[in-house]
Amino acid sequence: MPLSPPVAESHAQPAHWQTQVQLNLPSGAPCPVELAAAAFVRHWGVRDEHTPHARPSQDCYQLTYAMDAWQLFPPVQSDGLGKHPLWVDFIHNPRFAQTLLLREPLAKAAGLRANQRPLVIDLTAGLGRDAWALASTGCRVMAFERHPLVHFLLNDGLARARAHPKTRAIAERITLHLGDARQHEGSFIDHNNALTAPIWLLDPMFPERSKSALVKKDMRIFHHLVGEDFDADELFNWARSNPGSRWIVKRPPQAPTLNFEPPALVIESGRVRFDCYLPISVPARN
Ligand SMILES: C[S@@+](CC[C@H](N)C(=O)[O-])C[C@H]1O[C@@H](n2cnc3c(N)ncnc32)[C@H](O)[C@@H]1O
Repeated sequence: MPLSPPVAESHAQPAHWQTQVQLNLPSGAPCPVELAAAAFVRHWGVRDEHTPHARPSQDCYQLTYAMDAWQLFPPVQSDGLGKHPLWVDFIHNPRFAQTLLLREPLAKAAGLRANQRPLVIDLTAGLGRDAWALASTGCRVMAFERHPLVHFLLNDGLARARAHPKTRAIAERITLHLGDARQHEGSFIDHNNALTAPIWLLDPMFPERSKSALVKKDMRIFHHLVGEDFDADELFNWARSNPGSRWIVKRPPQAPTLNFEPPALVIESGRVRFDCYLPISVPARN
């Protein structure tokens, strides 16, 4: 069962995940880490090891601070999630910190050209890999993530990346917001300036096809944690109603298009398909 049970209504928020996560903060953790943990526990009601009668639970995720990073360990009694933690590392892990070339599918889907770096609005930030890839080309990225625990892990990864000389420049191009962009309506879009029309990126969760060995264990944790995004059609409709130069929807090859809207352009790349939409009545260019 995913930690956030499916909620079909618009602006759906993940629910009940708090009861299945326990926070473990080693004694002697640096002060900002303690503060972040205290704020997280207070705000979301996550259990921590100091909660009366709390014991490490076999069927709980453990959110642990180790090796200068927040890491999410799967429940000891879990089906196929392994033992390795999920954490966001743009400094050392090439699966997170991918530098995007203009000839690569995501850059083509975004229609990036040599001297043009539009604002990207990533409505489904997740673990930030696409946001990072686009920021690596020089784009500024405004990213939204509504699952508080996913946001917490990504925020931690970005903070470490901003503090490291190797990754600082890219990390500083990404602004991460907690929540659904629809709740911030009007506050971040310049409706009057067509030249700054942003690129919208959507990569909603789609059910895992199998427990294939190709899916890394930490990604299985992520899928188990977040579940499926049942309101992706509504999010897409909302994004399409805003000014933009492109709308990119990232999908598995077999998935239907969002809202059954035919894309202007489809870019297939192995296990991923990019459906690209243009403003109404503008001819496709690639
Ligand atoms: C498949 S993941 C995105 C992965 C991401 N593209 C990456 O590169 O790591 C989808 C994420 O979008 C989030 N999400 C889905 N709908 C959302 C919404 N309306 N607002 C904010 N976040 C949303 C989910 O919580 C989940 O973390």
